[in-house]
Amino acid sequence: MKKEEKKAAPVLTIDELATFCKRKGFVYPSGEIYGGLAGFWDFGPNGVEMKNNLKREWWMFHVYGRDDMTGIDGAIITNPKVWEASGHVASFSDILVICKKCKKPNKIDKHELGKARCPDCGGEFDSSSAREFKSMFRTDVGTEGFAYLRPETAQLIFVDFKAVQNDARMKLPFGIAQVGKAFRNEIAPRDFLFRCREFEQMEIEYFIDPKENCPYEIGESEILVYSADLQERSKEPVKMKFKDAFKKGIIKTDWHAYWLEQEFLWFTNLGAKAENFRIRQHMKDEKSHYALDTWDLEYNFPFGWKELQGMANRADFDLKQHEKFSKTSMSITKDNGEKVLPNVVCEPSQGVERAFLVFMCAAYDYDKKRENVVLHLHPKLAPVKAAIFPIVKDDKMIKLSEEIYKDLRREWNVLYDDSGSVGRRYSRNDEIGTPYCITVDTDSDKGKDVTIRERDTTKQIRVKVADLKNVLRGLLSGETKFEKAGKLVETRVKEGKA
Ligand code: GAP
Repeated sequence: MKKEEKKAAPVLTIDELATFCKRKGFVYPSGEIYGGLAGFWDFGPNGVEMKNNLKREWWMFHVYGRDDMTGIDGAIITNPKVWEASGHVASFSDILVICKKCKKPNKIDKHELGKARCPDCGGEFDSSSAREFKSMFRTDVGTEGFAYLRPETAQLIFVDFKAVQNDARMKLPFGIAQVGKAFRNEIAPRDFLFRCREFEQMEIEYFIDPKENCPYEIGESEILVYSADLQERSKEPVKMKFKDAFKKGIIKTDWHAYWLEQEFLWFTNLGAKAENFRIRQHMKDEKSHYALDTWDLEYNFPFGWKELQGMANRADFDLKQHEKFSKTSMSITKDNGEKVLPNVVCEPSQGVERAFLVFMCAAYDYDKKRENVVLHLHPKLAPVKAAIFPIVKDDKMIKLSEEIYKDLRREWNVLYDDSGSVGRRYSRNDEIGTPYCITVDTDSDKGKDVTIRERDTTKQIRVKVADLKNVLRGLLSGETKFEKAGKLVETRVKEGKA
């Protein structure tokens, strides 16, 4: 049994976050004018920008940033035999149980039968109501019959493995990455974006020759480690370095330790706080049908510690199954002529919506002084990179502001705003996480310069219009410090409700 389902010190509840996301154009219940549909969400104007930024950052870090990785974009619907071979048709299901008290249906994992209680009311589940519930959506395909909507992106990587390895001339060890939609007929979608029926995954299958050790260095980062052994003995997780968890044999392979640290670093480099992460090993009766060993990267969400990313060691399960079912060899020939069936030593599998929640939870902050929410999103994730305003509606200022806006939008998603007081325009942008506001004022025409205000500190610098693009490039990439990017100036606009 999982212990320590402690609540985070909640700054906001998940329902408050959902309301905020709707109000600020990030996420809406899908088809809301018809009452919505549980587990389906639409991303609004700010949500789609942030989600695209997040996926691009993931791809930059995991694919472009490495020379052992390539990518694919597989189909959502594929030959149903794929899902027979993968074991999903036989095993991809949950147990549906009805709560005796609130009568709501709920999902539990097979190993939780007789142990779990209703997450809504704490009631006991009626064990006589327990039945298997298949989690794959089915659909019709032309006149050919039915097919499944993919419940994970991973299988497309396995079935395309030989072609990809050959075409991208990959040599072991290497990974194949994919970002795309996945669908699960969840019995009880819950906690806003946390458990949806339609979502996106960012997945990597990392293939090795099973004889090979990890050539990459495991760094110095520390994390709470919650091994199966600690959970069995009802002990608390222990803080240690990833590399020490491997050296002590808690994490079985150096590869697994290395990738767990990489995933932790991806989140923390983009502004999530390290203390809200831990890694938890799956217990024996909890592992998926394909997994030799699984560690989850968990996050301390407003509703407790929950799986953010699963990282299974799938060994040669999938390639072997596809060899068997398709009668196609999945082995590859190494440079020394040796034939090898690669092993997936780990599969970092991340849900986009859960990552979105993490960055939102980490960024959300009600600023008492400013009397508005400030969304401290990393500039790389922020939906709008800069807002441009004329300080008042003066023809010259409007003209220059519009010129700047038109020039900047060639490179970034920026907005022009001349409605309401400047204070209100600042707070509107704080709330959607715009890192920089550019103001054209009475001196701009003469000095050919503008003011840039930084969201997090409200400090302001004066910058020449001619330098603006370069300055912004440096600020958004994190290469330039704000104070060094221009001349610091007195704040002209009083912060707070204007
Ligand atoms: N290919 C392995 C796999 O799919 P998983 O643990 O079932 O493993 C991986 O899913 C990740 O996908 C999860 O850690 C989570 O981030 C995301 N995910 C899974 N089911 C989800 C759901 N119903 N709603 C949102 N995200 C989900």
